[in-house]
Amino acid sequence: MDQARDIDLRPLLAVHAGLAAALIRAAFAAQRVATDPPASALRESADSVAASLAAAGQGGFAAWEDASLVGCVLWQVEPRGLYLGRLAVAPHRRGRGIAPALVAAVEALARRMGLPRVVLSTRLVLADNRRLFARCGFVETACHAHPGYDRPTFVDMEKPVAADPFP
Ligand SMILES: CC(C)(COP(=O)(O)OP(=O)(O)OC[C@H]1O[C@@H](n2cnc3c(N)ncnc32)[C@H](O)[C@@H]1OP(=O)(O)O)[C@@H](O)C(=O)NCCC(=O)NCCS
Repeated sequence: MDQARDIDLRPLLAVHAGLAAALIRAAFAAQRVATDPPASALRESADSVAASLAAAGQGGFAAWEDASLVGCVLWQVEPRGLYLGRLAVAPHRRGRGIAPALVAAVEALARRMGLPRVVLSTRLVLADNRRLFARCGFVETACHAHPGYDRPTFVDMEKPVAADPFP
């Protein structure tokens, strides 16, 4: 895999909320397997991303390449640790390590915040995603069903964050 060498990772700014929402919708629409229920990420909008970025204990990271937004992720402080969501990479920029770089940015933030772990959820049918997160060091902890479903549809994953040796 090419490394994401020319990728510039920065905090996601509110001024880029519209771009990020469009990227999230395009990325989730291009998932390799259809999900049931459909991803709520498909309804993300400039306003909803801006609201997330403006909320206390929430934020995001953006991956830029040649002035184009090619990846993003949102994070949120929770009692369990730092929740990672809406991880999205442009369909034409996949397989180059952009997602692992965004995950690493969230992990580094959790370490700086003194939080014990990064947590996320992914759909059970998305084997590629489960493999990606396992490769990043996450372990599966519990399966759940969406409301109205009589079978598990998603799985929680978490990765412990080692304490910063130089806080
Ligand atoms: C999941 C996602 C963020 C991964 O981003 P990425 O930057 O491509 O991640 P990586 O570079 O680590 O590559 C992941 C896998 O995609 C493979 N891949 C390579 N080229 C690809 C392409 N053109 N399209 C899709 N996947 C490709 C990689 O080889 C790797 O496969 P492997 O697990 O068998 O090694 C991205 O596919 C995406 O945006 N998916 C839709 C949204 C989504 O599901 N988000 C996660 C929700 S929990």
